[in-house]
Amino acid sequence: MSLTQELEHKIKLVNTYLKKYMQRAAASPPPVCEAMEYSLFAGGKRIRPVLMMSAYELFESDCIPVMPFACALEMIHAYSLIHDDLPAMDNSPLRRGLPTSHMVYGEAMAVLAGDALLNFAFEVCLETAETDASRTLKALACIANASGVHGMIGGQVIDISSEGQKLVYDQLKILHAKKTGALICAAVLSGAILGGADAVQLESLKAFAQNFGLAFQIKDDILDVEGDSATLGKPTGNDAQGLKNTYVSLLGLEKSKYLLSEYTKKAQDNLSMFGEKAKFLLELTQFLAAREK
Ligand code: IPE
Ligand code: IPE
Ligand code: MG
Ligand code: MG
Ligand code: MG
Repeated sequence: MSLTQELEHKIKLVNTYLKKYMQRAAASPPPVCEAMEYSLFAGGKRIRPVLMMSAYELFESDCIPVMPFACALEMIHAYSLIHDDLPAMDNSPLRRGLPTSHMVYGEAMAVLAGDALLNFAFEVCLETAETDASRTLKALACIANASGVHGMIGGQVIDISSEGQKLVYDQLKILHAKKTGALICAAVLSGAILGGADAVQLESLKAFAQNFGLAFQIKDDILDVEGDSATLGKPTGNDAQGLKNTYVSLLGLEKSKYLLSEYTKKAQDNLSMFGEKAKFLLELTQFLAAREK
């Protein structure tokens, strides 16, 4: 299969399983369930679940057993975007080509839909605990740690509280590693943990995910400056307007592009021990560095 075919196949799987889980949530009060679905099915690249499934497939041939975890990562990501767009945070009216959750459902329902998605993510994963309790718990601990105050939330706090104040390079790297890198790392590591990776393999995959995560957010910063809002499905220029600390604001476009290609190469090098098995992840890393949305 080509990269595009395999990517499409995996995205379809994610969407099918997300629909299945959301059917169960349909019994919850309508406004919140509708808001959860609205954000989950608005599109999106599905990178975190795809990374998770691909990391698992370095060890196992079929990713179906880890679909609850793949969907959980997308639910956590969707929740993070709903909250990220709120007026109290980035105050953004557009996401994935549609009005943001709070524009459609109001702020209270957007907050609740985000909270509901976060909790639903852990609910669907915990249901699999009977199959392999030890691996499930390790994977969940990794995802919980990355989503919370040590990871994504911690990064969002630094992002918001440093608006208008210039961070130094090392602080900016930490900000990106936490707000975006942490969940990407958890996607790769939880997939590997569930697949039975050993300590050495986990170490290499952690290095891969950290470099990939940094490259991913540097590209996001670049697209905010030179991307096309219609293609991106979200406004451009938001970072400058919000006086955000980004790679572009600190280092300029040229240096940011250089670092994007450096971290992309590093991430690819970190996969070398997996040989041919890592072909999809290698190509995906390149594809995302060159993406336009
Ligand atoms: C956007 O994430 C927010 C970041 C952490 C950079 P994505 O670029 O993965 O957004 P979608 O899911 O494709 O919309
Ligand atoms: C968001 O980063 C990271 C999250 C944890 C959601 P950004 O604020 O740069 O993401 P976009 O540009 O709005 O997608
Ligand atoms: Mg933000
Ligand atoms: Mg934002
Ligand atoms: Mg951004």
